[in-house]
Amino acid sequence: MSIRLSDGTEIPIEMHKIRIVQKVRLIPVRERLQAMEAASYNTYLLRSRNVFLDMLTDSGTNAMSDNQQAAMLQADDAYAGGESFYKLADAVKEIFGYEYLLPAHQGRAAEHLLAKTFVKPGMYVPMNYHFTTTKAHFNLMGATVLELFTPEALNTQSTCPFKGNMDLGRLKAAIDKHGADKIPFVRMEATTNLIGGQPFSLANLREVKELIAPLNIPLVLDASLISENAYFIRQRESGYADSSIREIILEIMGLADICYMSGRKSCMARGGLIATNRKDLFEAIRPWLPVYEGFFTYGGMSSKEIEAMAVGMREMTELEIAGSGADAIKYFVGRLGENGVPVVTPPGGLACHLDAGRFVSHLQPTDYPAGALAAAVYIAAGIRGMERGTLSMDRDEQGNDVPSDMELLRLAVPRRVFTMSHFQYATDRLKWLHEHREMIGGIEFYDEPPVLRFFGGLLKPKGNWGAALAEAFEKDFGSDC
Ligand code: F0G
Repeated sequence: MSIRLSDGTEIPIEMHKIRIVQKVRLIPVRERLQAMEAASYNTYLLRSRNVFLDMLTDSGTNAMSDNQQAAMLQADDAYAGGESFYKLADAVKEIFGYEYLLPAHQGRAAEHLLAKTFVKPGMYVPMNYHFTTTKAHFNLMGATVLELFTPEALNTQSTCPFKGNMDLGRLKAAIDKHGADKIPFVRMEATTNLIGGQPFSLANLREVKELIAPLNIPLVLDASLISENAYFIRQRESGYADSSIREIILEIMGLADICYMSGRKSCMARGGLIATNRKDLFEAIRPWLPVYEGFFTYGGMSSKEIEAMAVGMREMTELEIAGSGADAIKYFVGRLGENGVPVVTPPGGLACHLDAGRFVSHLQPTDYPAGALAAAVYIAAGIRGMERGTLSMDRDEQGNDVPSDMELLRLAVPRRVFTMSHFQYATDRLKWLHEHREMIGGIEFYDEPPVLRFFGGLLKPKGNWGAALAEAFEKDFGSDC
């Protein structure tokens, strides 16, 4: 929720009180440099004890509510037929309107089950944009991912309210070219992660459905960030200003044939699920669940997390919770923009995204601009962000880097975790870094994993720019703490 102050400024306002806190440390810049070197210039490999503001992800890092914590104490740990499962199934029925539930240990496990069941070699999977794990699973099955976004999706300085929309013309052309029998389903991702947490509109989702339903192509929804997408629809799509988040989510789900989700994001828990009203699709996936995940009523999740997810699913439909991340991000993006730091607009859900393409425009894709910026942001501010650019792409069959459509540094804003002073501090240090951007050099692999290389890859700076940056910082701010 946002509130307007008497001088006209709009600020995000926390509709909760903080009763449990976790200590963080801001270590001096010299130690931050050492920590970055020890982590091989890969922010995934930092120890969180050395991170001041952990903006790596909102996945599993949102603050839980008192009611979620309380529900966890009531978990039923039965291997089969546990009560916790039925509570989640009730929540899925109530919030999504779906009869059939398949729990999975997290979102990518749901993707694995969908890939295993429906995706065959030589197939094409159209989507509004890929997510890293989604693409990996579909590619591993021998299929090709088709990203059918609109041109506006890649414009980082846009005012388009729905950059997550699918381009209907491109979808129609893809179906004509490859044939409906080569398309196992069309995937739409809510609050499209990798283009900056950008939503699709209900009008667009309806058009996609109307195009593919007569061809018997199912619509699969990645609902990991569903409440944020519903919040943006309420704010930005005409006709929905008076609808509740629940009503909007139900309307979205009514159009999809299957939804799957990571429970670690909008639901503020851990775990995942697949849900549907289509008995045929449910029955096709179901046999694989105990093979890869766990028994039908826990699917690899702990019962505690199932309980927390059931509560989180209802809580994410409350307006001030659905908007808690989005409103903070809007504020953060606004302050950075005012200070000349290149950010993706309009502000999205899940994170503030720095446009590394513009921030370090002197670097080439093969310098991994967003990865280099992630390292620089940590050295300058103790803030851990996540590279979402060329480094997050796997190489092509010839072993060449595949330049990403966009070079983004994601600064995730887990819901109800950070305060206004954190955003003010981050804005100040990022402004300083932007003023010293010419000092930031490229990074290169010295040990590169064959798949999802960004997670565990070891990199080093091209030249000694990290140390020079730390020195310049120390001159301006001293040891900082
Ligand atoms: N789909 C989307 C849209 C996601 O953002 C994620 C995870 C997944 C699927 C996979 O779910 O992590 O539970 O296995 N996103 C995290 C992130 C990792 O940091 O954005 P998972």
